Amino acid sequence: MRFPEKEILLKDGRRCILRPTGPEYALEMIQYMKETSAETPYLLRYPDEVSYTEEKEQELLKFVQDEPGSVMMMALVDGRVAGNCSVSGYGPKRKVRHRCSVAIALYREFWNLGIGKAMLGYLEELAREIGYEQMDLEVVADNTRAQALYRKCGFVESGRHHRALLFDDGTYHDEILMYKEL
Ligand SMILES: CC(C)(COP(=O)(O)OP(=O)(O)OC[C@H]1O[C@@H](n2cnc3c(N)ncnc32)[C@H](O)[C@@H]1OP(=O)(O)O)[C@@H](O)C(=O)NCCC(=O)NCCS
Repeated sequence: MRFPEKEILLKDGRRCILRPTGPEYALEMIQYMKETSAETPYLLRYPDEVSYTEEKEQELLKFVQDEPGSVMMMALVDGRVAGNCSVSGYGPKRKVRHRCSVAIALYREFWNLGIGKAMLGYLEELAREIGYEQMDLEVVADNTRAQALYRKCGFVESGRHHRALLFDDGTYHDEILMYKEL
């Protein structure tokens, strides 16, 4: 969906723009996926698994922009991409269309400035506007930073996926399930 830009003030005094991630940002998004997945082990992909071409990524971002049940939002600080987040539905079936799934990741240099909290707040506003009744997410059990943010934003733990992830180093990691009713 398309939505208005929002300006927020960061904890270090800089200004940050939250805006739709349009197809014109395809190359930046490919770079972002590669770099953020190298900076933290808590995203689903490894950097070498980011194999989108610019054309494919443009197509995807265009699709999301035109899809009324989806949100793709980026944060810009001094004109640079600081991070991205999204809301996506579980499809049109009546039994699940009240729910949506949330994802977020920032470049490490932009952590702890308040961007995560502001983005989740704006995502929640847009999810309500779309008509969703609940936001769901999965977070790696060791990812206490993200869990702290989600709790602060009103998410509640509802369960656990046992050994959901197998890292390249051979270790297994549970995922915690969280939700927020809107
Ligand atoms: C998780 C992530 C999105 C958080 O975003 P952020 O912009 O750094 O978070 P914020 O600065 O908005 O901080 C949110 C709150 O959590 C608190 N917080 C941050 N780290 C914390 C920690 N380790 N323990 C407790 N609280 C913590 C902050 O103090 C802040 O609260 P406040 O605003 O009341 O002071 C960001 O660190 C990130 O992109 N991480 C890598 C990718 C990732 O893990 N994504 C989530 C996958 S499920």
